[in-house]
Amino acid sequence: MSQFGTEFCDHFSIARYSDGAWQASNIIPLAPLPMHPAAHIFHYASTCFEGFKAYRWQDGKARIFRLSDHVARMQKSAASLRLPVPDADLLSGMVTDLVGHHVGDIPEPPSSLYLRPTLIGTLENIGAAAAPSTEATLFVLASPVGDYFAGGAKALKLLVDDQRARSTEQLGSTKTGGNYAAALGPTLEAKEKYGVDQVLFCPDGDVQETGAANFLLISDDEIITKPLDTTFLHGMTRDSILKLGAETGYKVNERNFTVAELIDGVSRFEAVLSGTAACLSPVGALVYKGEEIAVRDGKPGPNAAKLQKALQDVQYGLAPDAHGWLTEV
Ligand SMILES: Cc1ncc(COP(=O)(O)O)c(C=O)c1O
Repeated sequence: MSQFGTEFCDHFSIARYSDGAWQASNIIPLAPLPMHPAAHIFHYASTCFEGFKAYRWQDGKARIFRLSDHVARMQKSAASLRLPVPDADLLSGMVTDLVGHHVGDIPEPPSSLYLRPTLIGTLENIGAAAAPSTEATLFVLASPVGDYFAGGAKALKLLVDDQRARSTEQLGSTKTGGNYAAALGPTLEAKEKYGVDQVLFCPDGDVQETGAANFLLISDDEIITKPLDTTFLHGMTRDSILKLGAETGYKVNERNFTVAELIDGVSRFEAVLSGTAACLSPVGALVYKGEEIAVRDGKPGPNAAKLQKALQDVQYGLAPDAHGWLTEV
């Protein structure tokens, strides 16, 4: 299968907001969106998006993972950007209709259909830097994606940056394009300078997250990760792993921790990145103050593998969905 995010189903769903109301959505053939060059999005970054997956089970039906939670996160993002907030029913209907339209295009697990709702401000006004976009377009893309680890899970190397933040306090928990733009420069710089895969942003020593994933420490009986605040994105994978972890006997410790504690802890704790695309990605080494520090033996750890399997078993229909996380289509 082609590279993650580069292949698309041939239809997408679209709805527009104008004159103070959302119009009905349509599924139409995938095509470029004609847009006025003065559209708010191009100038003032009025955009937010979501990313989650639908799986096709052996019964031929699709199951969307944590649909209502992703819709709620999108609504929160939209509100924080002062964009028109899509109704939950509108957005979840657009997603389920599109998944229904493309059930036959969903590859079997561990492959899936990645769904990308996107909301953009379309007000034609280049003088609206300090004014919200009162017009908007909402669309949902569907993209068949393969197993992220088809080539085998490789342990990642992270640069620990104890100065810079990935985002800001206002927008850290908003899934908006500008945050990814902000992380891009530091990440490319770190790749070039230290040969790392990602940057772990730890402003003032506070361990937060990487450019596009949450960060967790896992031992045989404990999971440690930053508690929810406005500085980082509230990942659904993080939340699911914490819930499944607690049920399988891990002590879940949502607390702030410092770079010093992290460096001290990685001889005992496994470290992982969590996110929809890759589920849990093992971290094998950290680079801090120019020095490379192994995470345990530098290899993917057994606890992360066990927790990842527990989550994927629910997603693939191999374990009961005790939390009602799946929406059948
Ligand atoms: C900045 C950031 N943090 C965390 C995550 C993980 O979130 P989720 O588990 O909901 O995919 C993502 C990916 O969506 C992300 O972009």
